[in-house]
Amino acid sequence: MLLNDALHWRYAAKRMNGEQVPEETLERIMDAARLAPSSFGLHPWSLVHVRSQALRTQLHEEAIPQPQVIEGSDLLVFAVHDRDFKTQVDEHIANMARTRGQDERELDGFRNMVKGVMDQKGSHEACLEWAARQAYIGMGVALSAAALEKVDASPMEGFYPDKLDEALGLREKELKSVVIMALGYRDSERDPGAERAKVRRDREDFVLTIE
Ligand SMILES: Cc1cc2nc3c(=O)[nH]c(=O)nc-3n(C[C@H](O)[C@H](O)[C@H](O)COP(=O)(O)O)c2cc1C
Repeated sequence: MLLNDALHWRYAAKRMNGEQVPEETLERIMDAARLAPSSFGLHPWSLVHVRSQALRTQLHEEAIPQPQVIEGSDLLVFAVHDRDFKTQVDEHIANMARTRGQDERELDGFRNMVKGVMDQKGSHEACLEWAARQAYIGMGVALSAAALEKVDASPMEGFYPDKLDEALGLREKELKSVVIMALGYRDSERDPGAERAKVRRDREDFVLTIE
């Protein structure tokens, strides 16, 4: 299936039927998020996978007042790394050197350049904002991967990040949730959105061609 066809098929399902997403399908969707690009390849965020129905019920009561959370099969939390960004740069450089069989010293120019960009951002909060933008790329890639698998994905910003982080113990792990996504299968009979036409701006209004 072409990605464009999958994107026409998908919609943000609000009601789901409780059916489980098969393990290998779920793994492919999560791996698509792992393979998402990020600025400098730093990937300053992690994916938190919540499968247990009991935990999702607790999250629904405390932090996410939306039915997809309990009616879906799995919940993905896209969480930025809330810790020193220069240390993250060093970890990334070490990974690059290990993966490509390079001496870390060959990457010193790159290391200094990326750390310089972190300095330019001016504050830890600004770095977190930037990290959140990287996490959203992962969310988009995972959502597209799910659509290709005919799995419904419901992205959500409508939750209480502080409460969610507390319930999942994310602070202790130096993580901060920025966006979440329920995965599962649409319940077309209970979800009016299933039959609604997709609303997007026209191509002419959306693409500005400058020749
Ligand atoms: C970052 C993001 C956050 C969203 N948050 C919510 C949400 O909290 N609750 C909800 O019902 N839909 C949420 N949506 C779904 C959008 O409302 C939906 O994608 C949009 O209306 C376009 O419709 P479609 O995705 O069904 O084609 C969110 C979508 C995105 C991309």
